[in-house]
Amino acid sequence: MTQTNATHLNKITQGDSLEVLRELADNSIDLTVTSPPYDNLRTYNGFTWDFEGIAQELYRVTKDGGVVVWIVNDATINGSETGTSFRQVLHFMECGFKLHDTMIWQKISPFQHKNRYIASFEYMFILSKGKPKTANLIKDRKNKWGGTAVHGTLRQIDGSLKKPTGMKVGRKVAEYGARLNIWEMPGDKANKTGHPAVFPEPLAQDHILTWSNEGDVVLDCFGGSGTTAKLALLNNRNFIHIDISEEYVAIANQRIVDAIQTK
Ligand SMILES: C[S@@+](CC[C@H](N)C(=O)[O-])C[C@H]1O[C@@H](n2cnc3c(N)ncnc32)[C@H](O)[C@@H]1O
Repeated sequence: MTQTNATHLNKITQGDSLEVLRELADNSIDLTVTSPPYDNLRTYNGFTWDFEGIAQELYRVTKDGGVVVWIVNDATINGSETGTSFRQVLHFMECGFKLHDTMIWQKISPFQHKNRYIASFEYMFILSKGKPKTANLIKDRKNKWGGTAVHGTLRQIDGSLKKPTGMKVGRKVAEYGARLNIWEMPGDKANKTGHPAVFPEPLAQDHILTWSNEGDVVLDCFGGSGTTAKLALLNNRNFIHIDISEEYVAIANQRIVDAIQTK
């Protein structure tokens, strides 16, 4: 079968992720931003999914230099975290992806426990097919020495100062540098979509801006309420959205209609 993305491009597709991914063309996706169901934390009406099959298909459809942002957490079962997220990442690496970065989404969870600290983060694994072809790092972290002149030395790991060759002495240090790989963003309670596990719009947007360019194709193979698709659309990217649930597909469709009106 010749695969083409035309059927699914800039549409909300209802279907099983693996089956729809199999319809997509090789090396055709610039960026995937997705959050699969975690362990059995939520059953999503009993829908199941085939992780190994999806990992293999994601590698096939991702362009060389393309990126997959895999946002996951583990359930705690019988007093132990499952470690599923780590096993998934190791499997992605066996499929050929590089683990480009392990990022953290820091949020505040309402769940308190008697014998462990309040869970406050999820993993955002940045998987790349080769070296990422796009990395528009967001520079919104104020530099301590911003605006001052470079005086010509750099602190070494052992604490000593060294003058690196080629350093432009007298050049002004930029006011802002690239942010850290821990992103603090509240969970999206304000998003009254009716979906139980949306990720925040700024989280989707900042990954889209970082790892893709205008005109690129951005996929969410567990699209839920359509957060990735909406932010791809608003940022002039093409989107492919897949979700198995008729209920969530209806929500995502409405969000896209609303987003088109505000654009
Ligand atoms: C964590 S939620 C994604 C939420 C999304 N990031 C958002 O902001 O709305 C996971 C989604 O995976 C969907 N899902 C579960 N099994 C699936 C399958 N086999 N194929 C496609 N989607 C599936 C569920 O319906 C659910 O909406």
